[in-house]
Amino acid sequence: MKKLLEICELKDEEIYYLINRALELKKNNNLLKKRNDIYIANLFFENSTRTKHSFEIAEKSINLNVIDFEVSTSSVNKGESLYDTCKTLEMIGCNMLVIRHSKNKYYKELESINIPIINAGDGSGEHPSQCLLDLMTIYEVFGKINGLNIVIVGDIKNSRVARSNYNILTRLGANVKFVSPECFDSDFGGEKVDFDQIIDKVDVCMLLRIQFERHKEKILFNNNDYNKKYGLTKERYKKLKENSIIMHPAPVNRGVEIDDELVESEKSVIFQQMANGRYMREAILEKIIIDNNI
Ligand code: CP
Repeated sequence: MKKLLEICELKDEEIYYLINRALELKKNNNLLKKRNDIYIANLFFENSTRTKHSFEIAEKSINLNVIDFEVSTSSVNKGESLYDTCKTLEMIGCNMLVIRHSKNKYYKELESINIPIINAGDGSGEHPSQCLLDLMTIYEVFGKINGLNIVIVGDIKNSRVARSNYNILTRLGANVKFVSPECFDSDFGGEKVDFDQIIDKVDVCMLLRIQFERHKEKILFNNNDYNKKYGLTKERYKKLKENSIIMHPAPVNRGVEIDDELVESEKSVIFQQMANGRYMREAILEKIIIDNNI
């Protein structure tokens, strides 16, 4: 694994290696080999709480030197291109880059950058590290992915999490369905179902935020109406199977895609996903360092 740009580039065995390694690191973080000779920069051109800071904690837990790169105080504001920023960081001695950008497939313009890039989210394209931590969480709960019934609910069309997760969960043998308002229907395949017809059959109920920042036209929603039709309400929660789980990549809009009280309910693994993010990102960094012989 020389880089991590799109989840489909990973073979099944690489995915299961990362899941098992992240679970191992969660149990015993002392297993990580410390490296204080590696420089890494996190370039976040879009806002982030979880991804940016869990990468930073993962990097610091390996003793990597984390470059303090902030888009707002960088020469990006003087018109520097993404390529020139990355090339500059490579030339001054950075060994790895973690990048989040609003442009889908921004990494295509970075093909001649000679240091590994980890995609921390590209527009509505992919979010591979989120996908891997979601797989880790599902595997941690069920001990398998194959054969699980999974519903992804919400703004499917604009969600990089839905795109990455649908592709890989399907490849790993899960049965994935979508629930969405028409304006957010998937444009990358998959079967749409009625939330109330499927709620009592799912093992995993994965909820998504409405991605207002990606909508080309302003879509007005009444939060209560959306919650009633597409939200995980207390009534729907009661219909979930005994051993089912609720997931959400977060940030969560409490009271919209999920009722406030359900965010930390018995079936919710939303905060477990966040905790797992650190360990999965440690496993990703470790594997890329080893495979590039850095
Ligand atoms: N899930 C996720 O990517 O969260 P952030 O936008 O806070 O990083």
